[in-house]
Parts: sequence; structure tokens; C-alpha cells
Amino acid sequence: MSRIVVVSNRLPVTVKKEKDKLSYQQSVGGLATGMSSFQKDYECLWVGWPGLAREQINGDEKEDLIKKMDQMGNYPVFLSQSHIEDYYNGYCNKTIWPLFHCFNQFTIYQNHLWEAYRHVNQIFCQTILDIVQPDDTIWIHDYHLMLLPNMLRKRRPDLTIGFFLHIPFPPTEIFRLLPWRREILEGLMGSDLIGFHTYDYVRNFLDTILRLRGYENSLGNVNYQNRMIKVDSFPMGIDFNRFYNSSEQKQTKLEIQKMRNNITQKKIIISVDRLDYTKGILERLEAFSTFLEDNPEYWEKVTMVLVAVPSRTGVLQYQQLKHHIDEMIGSINGKFGKLGWSPISYLYRSLPFHELTALYYIADVALITPIKDGMNLIAKEYIATKKDEKGVLILSEMAGAGNEMGEALIVNPNNRTQISWALKYALNMDEKEQKKRNISMQKRLKEYDVKKWAEDFKETLIKVKNAQKNLSARYLSPKNRLKIIKKYKISNHRLFLIDYDGTLIPEHFRFKQNSPSKDVLNTINLINRDQKNKVVIVSGREKHFLEKWFKNIRVDFIAEHGAWFRKDSTKWQTIEPLRKEWKSQIKPILELYTNRTPGSFVQEKEYSLVWHYFKTDPTFGRTRAMELMDSLTYLTSNLNLEVYHGEKVIEIKPTGINKGATAYQWISEKDWDFILAIGDDWSDEVTFSYLPNSAYSIKVGQGISESKYNIHSSTEVRALLKELARKS
Ligand code: UDP
Ligand code: G6P
Repeated sequence: MSRIVVVSNRLPVTVKKEKDKLSYQQSVGGLATGMSSFQKDYECLWVGWPGLAREQINGDEKEDLIKKMDQMGNYPVFLSQSHIEDYYNGYCNKTIWPLFHCFNQFTIYQNHLWEAYRHVNQIFCQTILDIVQPDDTIWIHDYHLMLLPNMLRKRRPDLTIGFFLHIPFPPTEIFRLLPWRREILEGLMGSDLIGFHTYDYVRNFLDTILRLRGYENSLGNVNYQNRMIKVDSFPMGIDFNRFYNSSEQKQTKLEIQKMRNNITQKKIIISVDRLDYTKGILERLEAFSTFLEDNPEYWEKVTMVLVAVPSRTGVLQYQQLKHHIDEMIGSINGKFGKLGWSPISYLYRSLPFHELTALYYIADVALITPIKDGMNLIAKEYIATKKDEKGVLILSEMAGAGNEMGEALIVNPNNRTQISWALKYALNMDEKEQKKRNISMQKRLKEYDVKKWAEDFKETLIKVKNAQKNLSARYLSPKNRLKIIKKYKISNHRLFLIDYDGTLIPEHFRFKQNSPSKDVLNTINLINRDQKNKVVIVSGREKHFLEKWFKNIRVDFIAEHGAWFRKDSTKWQTIEPLRKEWKSQIKPILELYTNRTPGSFVQEKEYSLVWHYFKTDPTFGRTRAMELMDSLTYLTSNLNLEVYHGEKVIEIKPTGINKGATAYQWISEKDWDFILAIGDDWSDEVTFSYLPNSAYSIKVGQGISESKYNIHSSTEVRALLKELARKS
């Protein structure tokens, strides 16, 4: 099995220097704890920052650190004090973290912080390039390294790169506030697979790349610069068995005993988080205060154990929050406390595994109410630890975990009254109900544990890579190109069926009324120099445009997707008498949708109607188009009409009209010994299906096609045609 190079800002082990001695501790946070379980099971090298500044250690200490880290499967990236200030405290935790959690009021935008972010991403990039081995898979984690995928891709296009974001991806309206939004999105697009915890974040991301960069997707597959990227959700799990069995381990049992001796009140409510404003700790304390106020019968009967793990203490917002939490705890304890009873027992430190699981085990209620949280593993760990199936989880609807833990008491973290009621309900819930809820959640957590999560991500990444290989195998190789050229050279009757938009001219000119460029006309003229060649422009455009644009050029035409054709400069004809009486029934429907969709418009061709939505807001336009497709499918069922949903257009025309049937007028005309058909969209697929086996067919762009080959762009199409012309 190939090696996995895990890359994250923070290594799973953080190094501290106290009294000139280095000490190694398990890092805090869901990424580190979750991925540590993964690290044990795979051939894996973890690249990241060890947690202290380069200036803090001397040469010997550095060597020692590298050696120790190496034994643990880690590879340290050293950062300077100024990197830590501008990149880590700065851009990561004063810009991206608050913005992505929708705390706009805390977000700062400063160029020098951005520069540091870019620089550190470059340092990571160089480190990986130095150590990467053939067949390694690179798995990049989290918001600190969003530029890294594309930096690596540029230097090593062959690499397999997965990216997973452990925090929410915000709605477009929030994300677009970021001055460097283009760079961040492009950075991520270097990945082969981009994963998020929930489908909401996937949707936000897909919506954002569509609206801000114009990248469409089909079921989460994005065609980016001729490479397929997959975007999907992978809700991170925990090491279920480790937590489930913890209450039977000697050390945890001991801790449970100690805690029970110390906390003599009947009921224990826990609140465990990193000390972070996204976790809603202040709001939770207010809700607990409301609960005590409204329910004096619980005085001296409950204790809240509040664990706040020190985090990002170099950032002002975190320092201020610590101050406020201290104050509020003091005030609640002062207000309600009695001799021998403090409502809140406060720990400002990180608990090691046995202490933490003991606390989970003895807690009657876990109150986990983040304002916004990518996932929240603590909620999962609490439920997993309950081997006796007792205990109640109160969980914020704003945590990613809320999606998978519907049996918890789900609350709005800003609704104090609701949280207070939930607390009362939880404290009174009978054991039968507790067990019923917990058993269902445990089953789910066990099934999709952290190992499955990682496997799922890894397997999807491999699948994406294989799909990319299959697609690129279809691209016209130099060998097949030569085959076409050879055949061209020895043939005497050659037919070219060439689509116009997206094939002769680039896709993004499609919606303009632009005439063909000089290069397009030159290309056709070059082919026409050889009398053995017959060129047919096979277009969806109206006939008068084609006539005007290719005036004085020896070409035949198929216009309006096959409704009209013109051979040898004679009169325009149709294959069969065409109907247009249906238009008066369908047009009002299209007009209705046009009125409701700013930017869209109806184009009336002689034998078809087209609804264009390329000028609309992309997401809105697509939603409307789906609705319109629905209505049209129903309304046209007995009108003998066909409805096509193309690239930002919906076209309605009588059944039987298509480019292929009309192209057959030429295909069947004589015994051609060379046929080349090129096209880029659904309408050209029909042409391909009418071709004899010996013909060459090429699709422009990526995607499944009836064609024999794919080619990347209209530029390549013109290059191929010119090369053929030169071989005459
Ligand atoms: N944690 C810990 N000791 C503590 C408190 C928390 O080891 O005293 C761990 C906990 O087991 C969990 C992680 O920290 O795995 C917190 O992850 P979560 O996803 O809940 O939040 P994050 O800190 O990543 O935002
Ligand atoms: C969250 C982030 C992680 C981060 C952790 C702890 O879980 O998603 O990337 O490591 O918080 O934060 P810190 O800043 O100490 O690494």
C-alpha cells in the first residue's frame, strides 16, 4: 500500500519549552485527536508545525526534536516567531477562522498577514516536494493550508492530492467578503478530492465556486482545467471502541472514583471545549444562569463542570473571552453558590484521555452548544463513552455533529430559554428514554468511526484518480492523431462535420453574437484549398447568422440544430415539413419564467424556442431551469416536442429534428473515405451516433461521449484542422 503524507498546520504532538527543557504533549483539537487514531493504522508520515518558534530552540535541541518526531512518524516544519504571529495568529486565526465561522465582526483583513499565509504555504510546499516519494498520496488538512494543493499541483501535476476542511465552509455571501477569495478558491482547486464534514458545507462551496469562479459541477464533479475534481462530504468519526471501552480501563475507573468522591451533588452537567468564541461558552453560561434562576429546586443538586482548554492565547479575542468567562463564572457562583456548593466547577486546562473519559462517564448531561462548529467530536465522544447507555446530550443545531445525532436534544445556541428547558428535560429524562436515544446514536458512531471515515476519503480519492486516468485515456494522443493524419493523406473524399460554438470558437463566446475570428475563417479556408474536402458547419445558430459570417466561403450548413440545411450554396431546405403551431402554447410559459428570472430571455428561432439563462445568477438560474424542465416535460408530453437542457439553455423543438438526422444528408450522399465530426455538447452526440464505424469523432472538453476521442479546447481543434490541411 502506498504511503500517506498527512499535512496539517499542527502536528499531533506539540512541543513546549519550559525551564530549558523540551516536553512533548498530545495536541488539542479535533483534527489532532481524530487523525492520531488514523496515524496508527497506516503507513503514514505526518508533516506539520511542532508548536514552538524556530528562535526558541538551539541547534542541538532542534536535532533532538527532529529525531524524536521521526520516531513518532512526524516531520516538523519550523516556523519563525514572525510567521507564527502573522500566519498562525494572524491570517489563520484572525481572518479565516472567524470569517468561516461567520463571525464577521472579528475578521480582520490585512495584506501583510495574507503575505505571511502565502509564504508559509510555500514553505510547506517546498518541504513536501523535498520528501515526497513516488506513489505517495498527499492528504492536506484544514484552513491553514488552502493554497498548498495548487502550489503542489503546479510543481508536480502527477501528485494525488486530497484536501479536507475541518471547519465550516461559509455561505457565498460571507466568503465573498474575503479580498483574497479568488486565490483561496484556486488554491483548493489543486486537489483531486475536496472533503467537508457536512453536505451544507459542500453546497456552500459548490455554490461559491459557481458564483464567484463560474465552475459548474455535476453531482459534485467539477471539470477544472481539464481535470476532474470531486467535492463531497465525509462526516468525521471518532475512535469509537477506544471511548466505548474506556470506562473499563483501570486508570479511567480510578478517575471516575476520584470524581465521584469530589462531586457529591446528585447531577453533573459537563461543558467541555477549547476556549473559543465559536463554542458559545458565554451564551451557555447565561443559559445555565437562567436555568438556576427559573428552577431553584435544583440549587445544591446540580454542578456544571466546565472544562475550557487554553487555545490561541496570542489572539486578543481569545484573551478577552477568557476574561469574560472568568468573570461570568465568578458572578454565577457568587450569585447562586452556598457554603459547600458552587454551581460551576471550572478547569482551565486540557484533560488527558483518562480524566476526560471519566468525566464523560459520570456526567448526567453534556451541554454542547457551539454558535458554529465544523463537526464537534466532543459530542460524539460523550455518547460513545456511555457503555451503560445512560446520559443526555444537549447539542447545538449549529454543530456539524447535529446532522448525525438527531436523537440528542437539539437546541439553538442563542436561545437561553430553550437551553434552560432542555436542561430541565434532560435532568428529568427517564433511563429508558436515555438508553433508547443513546443506543441509536452509538450504533451510527460505531459504524462510521474515524477509521471508516479515513478509508472512505482515501478510497474516494483513488476512485477520482482512476476516473481522471480513464478520461485522459480518451484524449487524442499523438499516436491517434497520427493515425487520423495518415488516413487523411490517403483518402480522396473527405467530409468534415464541424460544430460552431464551443468547437470552432471557444465556449465563452457562445452567448455572444460574435462572428468567427480570423483564425477560424483561415482554418476553414485552408481546408477548402483541397477540392477533395467538403466542410459542413453543423450549428444550433440561426441560418442568417451562418450565412453572414461565412459569406464567400465554400461551406455547407446545418442551422438551428438540424431544422435547416443548405448544400452547395443553393437554397435553404428542411428535411420534412416542420411544425411551428406549438410555439404559441409554449412561448407564454417561457415568458413567465423570464419574468421571474432576471437576466434570462427567450430566443425565437423559426422552428424552435430557446430559453437562455447564462446572464442570470448561476445558482438561481440553474434552480429555475430545473423547474422549467419539470413543467415542460409535463406540458410537451402530447405535443410531440423534444426538450433539451444544454449549456445554460433549454431548447424546445419538434421531435425528429436534430443535427444527426440532417447530417445524414451528407453522410449518405456518397462513399466518403474520410469523415471527421467534431462537437462539444449534447446536440453533437446525435451527429456522432449517425456516423459509420470508420469515421473519426472528437468531443471538445471532458465528459462521457459517443465520440472516439476527446480534445481539450477549440484552439486544439483549429490546430488539428490546420495540420490536416497542411498534409493535403
Ligand atoms: N480534548 C482533550 N482534552 C480536553 C478537551 C478536549 O483531549 O480536555 C479533545 C477531545 O477529545 C476532542 C478534541 O479535543 O477530540 C476537541 O475536538 P472538537 O472537534 O470537539 O473541537 P475542536 O477543538 O476541534 O474545535
Ligand atoms: C480546530 C481546527 C484544527 C486545530 C484545532 C486546535 O479543530 O480545525 O486545525 O488544530 O482547532 O487549534 P490550534 O490553533 O491550537 O491548532
